[in-house]
Amino acid sequence: MEADWIDVKKKLGEIFYEISQNMGEFDADFNPEVRVAEPHFGDFQVNGVLSFAKKNKKNPHELGKKLLTKAQRSKHLATCSLELSGPGFVNIRLTPEFLRQWARYFCGRCDFSRRLEGRTIVVDYSSPNTAKQMHVGHLRSMIIGEAIQRLLRFCGANVIRDNHLGDWGTQFGILIMAIKRAGIDVAAMDPETALDEFERIYKEGVALTKYDEKFLNNARRELVALQGGDPENRAIWEAINGASYRAFEEIYGQMGIAFDCVLGESFYRDQTDRVCDELESLKIAEKNQGALVAFHRDHGRFKDQPFLIRKSDGATNYATTDLATVLYRHETFHADGMIYVTDGRQQDHFQQLFLTVERWFSAKNIPLPELKHVWFGTVLGEDGRAIRTRSGESIKLKQLIGEGVARASAIVAQKNPSLGEVEREKIARVVGIGAIKYADLSQNRTNDYLFSWDKMLSFDGNTAPYLLYAIARIYALFQRLGVTSGGEYLPENMAIFSTAEELSLARKLVHFPSVIGQALEDLRPHYLCTYLFELASEFSSFYNADRMIGVAPDILEKRLLLCRFTLYVLETGLDLLGIETLERM
Ligand code: ARG
Repeated sequence: MEADWIDVKKKLGEIFYEISQNMGEFDADFNPEVRVAEPHFGDFQVNGVLSFAKKNKKNPHELGKKLLTKAQRSKHLATCSLELSGPGFVNIRLTPEFLRQWARYFCGRCDFSRRLEGRTIVVDYSSPNTAKQMHVGHLRSMIIGEAIQRLLRFCGANVIRDNHLGDWGTQFGILIMAIKRAGIDVAAMDPETALDEFERIYKEGVALTKYDEKFLNNARRELVALQGGDPENRAIWEAINGASYRAFEEIYGQMGIAFDCVLGESFYRDQTDRVCDELESLKIAEKNQGALVAFHRDHGRFKDQPFLIRKSDGATNYATTDLATVLYRHETFHADGMIYVTDGRQQDHFQQLFLTVERWFSAKNIPLPELKHVWFGTVLGEDGRAIRTRSGESIKLKQLIGEGVARASAIVAQKNPSLGEVEREKIARVVGIGAIKYADLSQNRTNDYLFSWDKMLSFDGNTAPYLLYAIARIYALFQRLGVTSGGEYLPENMAIFSTAEELSLARKLVHFPSVIGQALEDLRPHYLCTYLFELASEFSSFYNADRMIGVAPDILEKRLLLCRFTLYVLETGLDLLGIETLERM
């Protein structure tokens, strides 16, 4: 076996392409389109002959037969069994000998670090607005963004995790007005409760501005003063952001999240003039009733909906700072890609941002970085509507995490009453937080999902507790057998896989690398979750069917290899999802 067989699907595609190019029947445009096959057809299937034949007016069956004959002679495919099916499909079944070699070679060493080698990618996630506590609406960006940045890093990218705080918005005008009016000394506030206070004061401020125009004007004036550098307002603003970030960090700590930089909107405030000037002089933006806007007239949906870059009163906005941010990330980080993780309601904003950047960078002759908006749906409560507390407010993340851990603790105590308190609390933390993360990640991110404690904490089904339990079971088995659990394992005299359960578990393991590829391609972690769940289920069947104790050494070796490989994939997979694992639970 050679290292480049790691992704079998990809490798088969390369081999079939090469074969086709040495035949004369196919041209360079031929794409073998290797796909995962329905199990009764084999492991993989070459699908591309049909469309190629159609396009080139050839007989697909004849063409498939020729390709099959050539492939059967290829030394690369000596351990695969091939057959023709339908109108020119080539079915590929991996033989037990292939599986033996593959599993032995890659156990504990699936190295993906070449895929994105040399690419610098900024992942912009979490990015909450300051002056408010984080609530359930902030959960998904944090969890999905973290999984994506881990995946990119695992595949060799140089990732920059950037928390683009909303710390320069219009909320500060109202907040500063209300703080001054109530005579509050922000520097003397209790850090524990400061954020709740700010939220309360903000609401008060909003109510005031609605009831009397005078307060609205005051708020506007405070905002202008802040933006103009007024020292008093600046100090209040700093105190608010400081208190906010300390509260956020507590949650990041619990969720196991860290950033490489925290460059919020305010960081770009001095760069917005340059952006506006450039866009205007390059004729990408134009004055429109005093405002500066970018029209994308050749775009169906945006042709009458311009991108507002500067308001008529001269104030810049979310769009302006985001434009400055793209430029900064290009100039400072030399980013090849930028990924934004926010909810689906910001799709228009990002599409317009990307369209504007395309024209801007092309006018400046800057190579366009790959810009992607990774958006997600809403978290729904049991009633199928956006999740809220009984009194109709957003659920604070602090409480949500606390409740998850408390519920997990009760379940763990019930399942394993003999655990000491310290260990129980550790397990509860891993299970509770893992369950919240996994429930989110296992859904296709563009769907809304129903938040259900009972479902996410269940030990049955596609959940974190189920996967964590599978891992603990393998550790317990190793302990019983008196073997270590190291990932890499090169057994000398390993028998060939022969039972139905061994073969099907080995086949499942082979798909790990292509699942990573799929999750990476679409930036959708749920592909990985589905796979890990299926793998754990295959493992469970194998574990129940095939004995490990009292078997011949060569049989034990192959079964140990399957256990180690499964453990390695489950641990690696959960780590990529940002979920901690346990040896005992
Ligand atoms: N602060 C924004 C929000 O709470 C998210 C920011 C996302 N990142 C960005 N560069 N626009 O919705």
